[in-house]
Amino acid sequence: MRILVLAVAIGLLFVPAFGGKPPDSRWVNGMDLSWAFPEPSPDFPPEDNSVVKHVPGSSKSYTQGQVDDIYNPPDWFPEEHAPFPKVVASGEGKATPGCASCHLASGSGHPESANLTGLTADYLTTQLQDFRQGLRTDPRHRMSEIAKGMTDEEVKEAAAYFASQKPRTWIRVVETDMVPETYMNEGRRRYVRPGGKMEPIGSRIIEVPEDPALVTCRDPHTGFVAYVPKGSIAKGEAIATTGAGGKTTPCIACHGPALTGLGPVPRIAGHSPNYIVRQLAGFQVGSRNSDLDQLMKGVVVNLTQDDIVSLAAYVASRNPEKQ
Ligand code: HEC
Ligand code: HEC
Repeated sequence: MRILVLAVAIGLLFVPAFGGKPPDSRWVNGMDLSWAFPEPSPDFPPEDNSVVKHVPGSSKSYTQGQVDDIYNPPDWFPEEHAPFPKVVASGEGKATPGCASCHLASGSGHPESANLTGLTADYLTTQLQDFRQGLRTDPRHRMSEIAKGMTDEEVKEAAAYFASQKPRTWIRVVETDMVPETYMNEGRRRYVRPGGKMEPIGSRIIEVPEDPALVTCRDPHTGFVAYVPKGSIAKGEAIATTGAGGKTTPCIACHGPALTGLGPVPRIAGHSPNYIVRQLAGFQVGSRNSDLDQLMKGVVVNLTQDDIVSLAAYVASRNPEKQ
């Protein structure tokens, strides 16, 4: 018995050393979720950075190069939000780029980043601390690096700013068998390929801008359409509300009846479905590993690719503005 205990203890000691990197969440448990992870396509067309851009309703103008300057992101509608704390507006002279570049001034974000609206300051602060301490890593370690470059004061200011941003309906979910062929650009954003060719959707979610030209300008008024497999919203609803006969715990038990959050459990309604997929995979491989994240471990352990796709389709289709 003692030998067994010793063997287990030694085994545990060596797991981290020999285990190396955690498994890649894109291919966790034999699933292929790589389509939800932003990577530039080999043949993406380059942007012309000198073109001057406008968006409807704003008197401002920026060149495409200025729009994509993550250290000084555009602010098309300054009258629509509280004054920016410096860390949100600009990372001038620092390792930290302005949050508003990837998450937009509105916080609604793009599928390749995350939607920060409708989340509490406590939740946002905890996530930034988790990124800092390595309890959470994002696929490209971008947020981990950014959070590590932030001071405590900046974490507090950024969390308060985004917690004050109201969620809005940002994703239109459409069930379909066929989707347009797409590519991802240098900024890892997915666009419809010119030429009108279609392909079967399979067990994937394809999220593209409602208006590609405006989304390329980081317009905070223009959201996304998410193509999801036929029947997936109803399948996702069944799992989210009943737990599918013990396969998982109903999401509504913790995330609230409208999935808009409950205490420390965050809102998930209306999030980008590709973001949801990346998180469900992340809980499976342990790239989210805080104490609170342990609550999600049991939830995801038995989910198949179809379950994950269906849950993400359903969750994204829910109204984030409900309380
Ligand atoms: C270069 C792009 C980029 C910038 C700039 C950026 N983020 Fe992020 N952010 C991301 C990505 C990518 C993710 C994670 C997506 C994933 O896990 O798939 C993320 C996720 C997050 C999350 C987790 C959201 C959730 O629902 O759990 C928070 C919080 C966050 N970012 C806050 C910030 C703050 C605050 C700043 C400014 C200091 C910032 N981000 C700047 C790209 C960025
Ligand atoms: C036992 C409670 C519990 C149940 C049941 C549960 N969750 Fe969660 N979930 C949490 C907690 C707590 C967090 C936040 C973890 C943290 O703070 O990092 C979370 C986080 C998440 C996130 C990440 C949100 C973000 O902004 O990054 C997603 C996505 C998610 N849950 C989806 C689901 C889905 C889908 C279901 C149902 C299949 C579900 N959850 C069921 C407790 C739960």
